[in-house]
Amino acid sequence: MVSHSGNIALVTGANRGIGLEVVHQLAQLGMTVLLGSRDAEKGEQAAKPFIDEGLNVIPVQLDVADQKSIDTLKQWTEERFTKLDILVNNAAILYDSWQRVGSADLSVVRDAFETNTLGPWRMCEAFIPLLRRSEHGRIVNVSSESGSLASMGGETPAYAVSKVALNALTRMLAAELRNDRILVNSVCPGWVATDMGGPNAPRSVEQGAASVIWAATLPDDGPTGGFFRDGKPLPW
Ligand SMILES: NC(=O)c1ccc[n+]([C@@H]2O[C@H](COP(=O)([O-])OP(=O)(O)OC[C@H]3O[C@@H](n4cnc5c(N)ncnc54)[C@H](OP(=O)(O)O)[C@@H]3O)[C@@H](O)[C@H]2O)c1
Repeated sequence: MVSHSGNIALVTGANRGIGLEVVHQLAQLGMTVLLGSRDAEKGEQAAKPFIDEGLNVIPVQLDVADQKSIDTLKQWTEERFTKLDILVNNAAILYDSWQRVGSADLSVVRDAFETNTLGPWRMCEAFIPLLRRSEHGRIVNVSSESGSLASMGGETPAYAVSKVALNALTRMLAAELRNDRILVNSVCPGWVATDMGGPNAPRSVEQGAASVIWAATLPDDGPTGGFFRDGKPLPW
């Protein structure tokens, strides 16, 4: 079995939902995990049970829509750990099921883009220098089948377009970082019972997190520039 101890992982939007479960599972593998939360107090509360369990989980303030917050965390991470091994871009907003594409409020589209697309982009720009110092750098962009052009309808337009663009970012970064041996993939967790997914979703957070963990712990000869759920390719 591969040893993950000594690895440093950072998960955005991790104070609840799938991100929180991803933190737990990565920490159980022996990693030091930075639990990103835009509200520092919520992050501390979320991390406490894991810390009490003896896991290496550190709550960190992080708003992916705020460049200053990202820069502060980047500097702190560099001073404390020098490198980063795994970046999970999980934070997202605005599953706009109340909108249709022909009449969408474009300010909502802009807000979704700011967090769901530019958030991961900002995070990558800030943390790529630290990921380059890792022997096994991984970027996981938590996307959605809503962003699959192959099955696209007119629903959830702000969210869907933001995830299409996130998938494009995955492709472009994977190409650019191939020579640095950093693997970059998009994953869809499936329909998961969280605040975003609602109580009727068929998947648990454990099942949703599995796709993320798979991409975060790929071997060095694993895929890059792909779109996956449960470790299996999804159509773009
Ligand atoms: N649930 C599903 O069925 C489903 C399906 C497909 C894809 N996904 C994807 O899976 C990921 C996780 O979704 P989820 O269901 O766990 O959602 P969730 O329960 O709504 O949690 C979203 C998380 O993102 C955080 N967040 C929002 N804006 C942020 C910002 N600007 N900076 C930092 N954190 C921010 C939230 O923090 P606050 O507590 O501060 O709001 C929260 O921790 C998302 O990328 C989502 O698109 C989910």
